[in-house]
Amino acid sequence: MDKNLLIKMAKIASQNAYAPFSGFKVGAALLTKSGKVFTGCNVENSSYGLSNCAERTAVFKAVSEGEMEFSEIVIYADSDKVFSPCGACRQVLSEFSSDLKITIISNKETIETTINELLPLKFTLHRN
Ligand code: THU
Repeated sequence: MDKNLLIKMAKIASQNAYAPFSGFKVGAALLTKSGKVFTGCNVENSSYGLSNCAERTAVFKAVSEGEMEFSEIVIYADSDKVFSPCGACRQVLSEFSSDLKITIISNKETIETTINELLPLKFTLHRN
């Protein structure tokens, strides 16, 4: 899968973000080991704690379609803010892939990392 295509899909997904409270629109493109892409955006709620991040939207879409093995995720925010996945998303991403590659893109920088780097010693009930 062409990385530029994944980036483009994450950017397009961010346009669907529902973020009237933070104004911070995020898109994610999650590549499965079988070569499929699931996109996601953040979906906020008037009851703030119910908001869902772009990464988890993409993971939940994929798992609900029967896909559980992921090789890579691109996360994009059209912002100068330097960001990285929240703790909840790290935990959810780590559930399915111990070798997941993560690319974080903002207008300020691009960060290439992995889930192992972002969440060492993760909580798990199974070792993978
Ligand atoms: N957000 C994401 O969707 N992904 C991230 O990696 C960082 C934060 C969302 C959550 C919330 O809707 C908004 O960005 C501001 O925190």
